[in-house]
Amino acid sequence: MPEQPSESANSTPQYSKIIGASLSRIDGPLKTTGSAQYAADYHFPRMVYAVPVCATIANGKIRSLDTSAAEKMPGVVLVLHHGNIGPLYRVSGRGRNSEDRPPFEDEVIYYWGQYIALAVAETFQQAQAAAAAVQVAYDEQKPNVSTDLSGDTVAPPHTESKRGDVEAGFNSAAVKVDETYSTPAETHNPMEMHATTAVWDGNKFTLYESSQGVMNHLSVMSQVLGVPKENIEIVSKFIGSGFGGKLFPWPHSALTATASRRLNRPVKLMVSRKMMFSNVGHRPRTQQHMRLSATKEGKLVSLEQHYRNHTSLTDNIRENCGEATPFLYSVPNLHVTSALVRRNVGTPTPMRGPGAVPGLFALESAMDELAIKLNMDPVQFRLANDTLIDEEKNKPFSSRHYKECLEVGAEKFGWSKRTPAVGSMRKGDLILGWGVAGASWGAGRGACEVSVMLKADGSAYVSCGTQDIGTGTYTVFAQIVSDRTGIPVEKIEVVLGNSSLTPGPTSGGSTATATVVPAIAAATDDAIKTLIAMAVKAPGSPFEHQTPDSLMMSGGRLCVKGHGAESGTPFQDVLKMSKAAYASGDGKTGGLGSDTKARDYSTHSFGVQFVEVEWDPGIAKLRVSRVVSVVDGGRIINMKTATNQMAGAIVMGVGMGLFEQTIYDPRNGHAVNDNFADYVVPTSADSPEIEVAFLNIPDPLMGEYGVRGIGEIGLAGVAPAITAAVYHATGVRVRELPVRVEDLLMAKV
Ligand code: MOS
Repeated sequence: MPEQPSESANSTPQYSKIIGASLSRIDGPLKTTGSAQYAADYHFPRMVYAVPVCATIANGKIRSLDTSAAEKMPGVVLVLHHGNIGPLYRVSGRGRNSEDRPPFEDEVIYYWGQYIALAVAETFQQAQAAAAAVQVAYDEQKPNVSTDLSGDTVAPPHTESKRGDVEAGFNSAAVKVDETYSTPAETHNPMEMHATTAVWDGNKFTLYESSQGVMNHLSVMSQVLGVPKENIEIVSKFIGSGFGGKLFPWPHSALTATASRRLNRPVKLMVSRKMMFSNVGHRPRTQQHMRLSATKEGKLVSLEQHYRNHTSLTDNIRENCGEATPFLYSVPNLHVTSALVRRNVGTPTPMRGPGAVPGLFALESAMDELAIKLNMDPVQFRLANDTLIDEEKNKPFSSRHYKECLEVGAEKFGWSKRTPAVGSMRKGDLILGWGVAGASWGAGRGACEVSVMLKADGSAYVSCGTQDIGTGTYTVFAQIVSDRTGIPVEKIEVVLGNSSLTPGPTSGGSTATATVVPAIAAATDDAIKTLIAMAVKAPGSPFEHQTPDSLMMSGGRLCVKGHGAESGTPFQDVLKMSKAAYASGDGKTGGLGSDTKARDYSTHSFGVQFVEVEWDPGIAKLRVSRVVSVVDGGRIINMKTATNQMAGAIVMGVGMGLFEQTIYDPRNGHAVNDNFADYVVPTSADSPEIEVAFLNIPDPLMGEYGVRGIGEIGLAGVAPAITAAVYHATGVRVRELPVRVEDLLMAKV
């Protein structure tokens, strides 16, 4: 078996101070001044507005749909429905759609809120009024939105991972946990709602979207609309986050495009906050049976996870809850199975840390329960079962520092002061609870192409067909170009969010940064090479008698190696001597899957979250007061945006632990809390004191800079650390999220 590759600083190149710097987002001023244009901010002459009609049942058929009154209303130009939509197609080639079934394909209703018609009018209000005037009658059947997932499964449980003999292991072990953990359906609720502004020019579509993947959106819409890719352009310049909900196109995109083509006019559709709860995906409910056992010394003997999640009537979407289970700890006997259960809900979709996050709630909760039964400190218990080998793949990790995360986190949190007895830690009238949980998320890298121009006006230009969902991708592009050229970031224009650019990754799976960074570096180096080739040729150039190998770029200047940047010539002067507008370069990143070096390793990020809760037994008040998050996510390019990302994940984790759940009414399948008043998310007042630390150890396998993504890892341990802390404070073990005050009324302290 190969060794873990060397991560020592000596074996990696030295980078300038801009790598790892706490740089503010370069697109920040555009956002704070309101000049950044989001999908619904585009306005065009002759534009009309589309408002969907949503089903008010969750199971049945449309008996009749009468649009005659709506069509006669003021300003109404079109009402689309099953009877007149015309052909829309399924995706059969590359690309992933959110719902396999094209909108209005038939008159069957699968979930509450399903789009059944689209009213288009001169003004938004006229379209709203027309949508409300569409008369619909249904043949309704009782929907199934039951939260108990114990019943019939779509197919028999499927084995995800298996080794050893879990039955024998569990039966023979000294200490055991056998419990079921549940996580609710959750709605993404990014600040910016989904929207499409579609422009059809008689030959070509331009679709302004809020998309986490402009290239995938292009592939999908080309197939759904039956139009060559060359005739579609997807624009997604700014995105008010997505959390996974904007990875794949939703039906409103095809509907808006269709209306635009039919009318020969620009059409805008904004998905309302209410529709966001039914029509653009959610994290599905999970039910996870965990069986763990250990020796009395605290060594894991067996680990089982048998999970189910709900899916829709039209798609089989598996929430990959067993993602981290097979490799997070050393255990000889393991079995992970999955099964799907159908419910009358919209199709689930990835939500931040899909699978791993609900999966780790179950695994890390069970680990905490087992540690308590063993009378062992939960940090020590995890350290005792750490491994540098992925025992599922039987390969070493490219870079795993879970142990250091536990140790650094314990130190920063002050874990040594913890007294383990329930309710034993006090702060005035409050009882403190301290909990810990581990986190893991896959480290991936896709394929990507980047273009760079060093321009005669002294600026640089870098572009790629990826997008920035708000996490800082624009800024990372500028930092890498600046690192390699010395051109200040203010002089670097970053162009993203357009499908006509060179192929770039989706902002998903925590893979975007790891994917783009090596390509940006290669493209910048290629542009420098082009510049050098000009410099040695240009008549009168100070470098006329140099060989290309003797030159380099530093501090924005071309200079002779070893002579220092100050002695060099500003790169724009070299371009002027060459009478060139710019020196360009292209660079590529190859996917990890096709990287022969990577085959021998298992690549993942790791993290640990420590949580303090304050429990006021007098008034049954629970608050998360303090969180320390330590993340092993490879080299960090921008400390400020990365820390911000982790802080956001902690707040989201407080939501997952204490507040968030989409509640479907059993009578009609309607998400009853489909608004920001009733779907509770954390506010500033709910936010704890936050401390974030990165180990900042480059992963040599990820390529130049050793970057791994950090989008999801910061969330994974928060909820189980909260419930562990709640147990420590109250003696109540909550195995079904979110923790409710009702659960705690049985508190023993
Ligand atoms: Mo993430 S759920 O891949 O946006």
